[in-house]
Amino acid sequence: MGKITEKIRYVGVNDLNKVIFEGMWPLPFGVTYNSYLVVDEKVALIDTAEAGFASEYMDNIRKELGGKQIDYLVVNHMEPDHSSLIKMVRDAYPAVRIVCNAKTVPMIKGYHGISENLHVVKEGESISLGNSTLTFYMAPMVHWPETMVTYFNEEKTLFSGDAFGTFGAVDGGITDSDAGLTGCTDGCRDTFDAFKDEMRRYYSNIVGKFGLTVQAALKKLSGLEIARICSTHGPVWEKNVGEVVSYYDRLSKYEAEDGVCIVYASMYGNTAQAAKALSAELQKRGVPHVLHNLCTENVSYAYRDAFKYNTLVVGAPTYNNDIFPPVYNFMYGISARLMKNRRFAAFGSFTWAGASVRLMNEMASKLGFELLTEGISFPQAYSPEKCDMAALADLIAE
Ligand SMILES: Cc1cc2nc3c(=O)[nH]c(=O)nc-3n(C[C@H](O)[C@H](O)[C@H](O)COP(=O)(O)O)c2cc1C
Ligand SMILES: [Fe+2]
Ligand SMILES: [Fe+2]
Repeated sequence: MGKITEKIRYVGVNDLNKVIFEGMWPLPFGVTYNSYLVVDEKVALIDTAEAGFASEYMDNIRKELGGKQIDYLVVNHMEPDHSSLIKMVRDAYPAVRIVCNAKTVPMIKGYHGISENLHVVKEGESISLGNSTLTFYMAPMVHWPETMVTYFNEEKTLFSGDAFGTFGAVDGGITDSDAGLTGCTDGCRDTFDAFKDEMRRYYSNIVGKFGLTVQAALKKLSGLEIARICSTHGPVWEKNVGEVVSYYDRLSKYEAEDGVCIVYASMYGNTAQAAKALSAELQKRGVPHVLHNLCTENVSYAYRDAFKYNTLVVGAPTYNNDIFPPVYNFMYGISARLMKNRRFAAFGSFTWAGASVRLMNEMASKLGFELLTEGISFPQAYSPEKCDMAALADLIAE
């Protein structure tokens, strides 16, 4: 699946083995580490891949280039899922010049001990490969400070780094006309829809805190004509460029659709019963909703759907005069992601002195969430009298 156009070749890899990304995020459908060659009189390699794929990756490059040399290695992003093979590329192609920006220089030295033969570029600078021009635009804090993107002027192609990327390995090809989401059995070939949940999960888990800087990058790139997006994770977007860019715009503005993300955890089932009661009441009223139990599920999915719906309802028992830890972790993560524009309600069981609901309300208020109620903190067992989820569902549905 190497050839994207005559000049753009895919040399990335599908990772179907890794279970957890960045030590935290599950990969039920795998992930890709995308890397590209731009082949003209001179050859540029854009980013590399994860350490474990060294031999497959180097083979991919050799298959495309034969004996041809690589003149430039463009480093858009230093996170090791894309940069860990820089040293290997340099060893295999000793004449390669590493194209990067000033913030990247100490990172390359620190990770790889490389400080020679660097070509440091500034905002808007270009290199020529013959009849092909690559121009570099800084995209700081999307989601690391050294992040930049590379624009192939003549082919209107944006090598966007992690921006517009998604979890999920690709199956059947690399461009969105061919690629499906690996392991998906239903509607997997209309690629944007198939990848939408995994894209939002990637965005919310990893980039979620950086809405403002993503907005700044989108504004900067809005002047470019973009026919193709080659990101570092997931399919190459050609058919769906417009949809993908507008979805990123929405996510980074914390815009959400009507519906409820219920997130809870429970030791002995009382808070859980309240969560399920709310879900049943919402169902009766036809309100779209999703339920996430943080005792059995990785928090990754709760972030994904907190970014989807405009109403967040969180349940936690009181634990040592605090929020039950799995839910504290989630609320902390929502705060760290500077979540905005949500309606919020909290509930939870306690036995002798409730604290969780008050503390969750405080965290939500700091984020500027609209509190729908003062919260429902109920003693001991759940009952509809102590915890009126029908009334909360009415408020939500209004
Ligand atoms: C380790 C531990 C610490 C707790 N700390 C408190 C507390 O500080 N205040 C309180 O009122 N209840 C406390 N509880 C009681 C729980 O909040 C209570 O059992 C509640 O009903 C559990 O809800 P659940 O069934 O949804 O897990 C604690 C329970 C445990 C196991
Ligand atoms: Fe990254
Ligand atoms: Fe990445």
